[in-house]
Amino acid sequence: SLLDIVVNNSVDLEGYGACEGTLTCSTCHLIFKKEDFDRLPDKPTDEELDMLDLAYDLTDTSRLGCQIT
Ligand code: FES
Repeated sequence: SLLDIVVNNSVDLEGYGACEGTLTCSTCHLIFKKEDFDRLPDKPTDEELDMLDLAYDLTDTSRLGCQIT
């Protein structure tokens, strides 16, 4: 997932992916450009949407990085 890419490359994002991809935080929130958002392979699940609702600064092109593979 995108979360793994961030973690494996030691990208220094404070607190990113706190729950390690178990969909119990929203620290992996990403905001995509519209054209990139439209190209993502999967639609968010209801569980992801519920967690996204808690994310700071939610946008129409928000996703949780750990859910994008
Ligand atoms: Fe916690 Fe993605 S890492 S929801």
